[in-house]
Amino acid sequence: MTARLIDRALGRGIRSQPLKPDVSHNIILYLEDITVSFDGFRALNALNLYIEAGELRCIIGPNGAGKTTMMDVITGKTRPDAGSAWFGQTIDLLAMREPAIAEAGIGRKFQKPTVFGSHTVFENLELAMAGDKSPWKILFAKLSGEQLGRIEQVLETIGLTHERDRDAGSLSHGQKQWLEIGMLLMQDPQLLLVDEPVAGMTPQETERTAELLVSLAGQRSVVVVEHDMDFVRSIARKVTVLHEGSVLAEGSIDQVQNDQKVVEVYLGE
Ligand SMILES: Nc1ncnc2c1ncn2[C@@H]1O[C@H](COP(=O)(O)OP(=O)(O)O)[C@@H](O)[C@H]1O
Ligand SMILES: [Mg+2]
Repeated sequence: MTARLIDRALGRGIRSQPLKPDVSHNIILYLEDITVSFDGFRALNALNLYIEAGELRCIIGPNGAGKTTMMDVITGKTRPDAGSAWFGQTIDLLAMREPAIAEAGIGRKFQKPTVFGSHTVFENLELAMAGDKSPWKILFAKLSGEQLGRIEQVLETIGLTHERDRDAGSLSHGQKQWLEIGMLLMQDPQLLLVDEPVAGMTPQETERTAELLVSLAGQRSVVVVEHDMDFVRSIARKVTVLHEGSVLAEGSIDQVQNDQKVVEVYLGE
């Protein structure tokens, strides 16, 4: 294999020709028999999970169920002891490092927002567009019409058009979370992973976040890990319940909430 082919296989660099996941079988993420052990304790235990192209999936489960570990495996932060993880038909996630996985189109939003507080909302999106290029070059370079259009589109999507010139540090908690989602959108991920997006939000912010996540699915797949059942009910099409590192139940929110195994696990919390 030439170096270029290896780079493409690893999803390195070459932003003009990003490695897109092949979703011809309508599945964007395959996790099969994934096991992660920490000193003999199985945080994930032969986990199987399939996410469809364009779907919005909620993952719930009691503390310690393995939800965060699952996201760590998908994004390359944690290597499983066994199993396979594919992004579409052709991209082997277990052969890639974290930056290459992000570059290939998997975006992850952590719980704590990490916006640049002393830059404006607009500049934060501009910086996010830079990716691994020098942020200074981006801030002092002139934006192309296309780049400007892209930022304006994302501002609209996240509902912060009127806040574009405000310092990000002065935004409400909810607005910061949306800005961070917007920063991820600047990279146009095909799979977006979101960990507990509504923790600490007001009811209005929670409602707006539900609308935002629903609007993001379709063009891409969105996987949301969340504790708040009412929130899950307000957005979910399909819910997966994790317990002790495996899938306990999967289905509509009504199906899983009426599942005796799920009821027992939640009562035991
Ligand atoms: N780096 C680590 N070292 C040891 N144990 C860990 C580590 N990360 C997670 N665990 C354990 O694995 C289990 C699953 O954790 P986690 O994936 O964070 O669960 P969840 O996000 O569902 O609450 C927990 O029992 C946790 O204590
Ligand atoms: Mg967690």
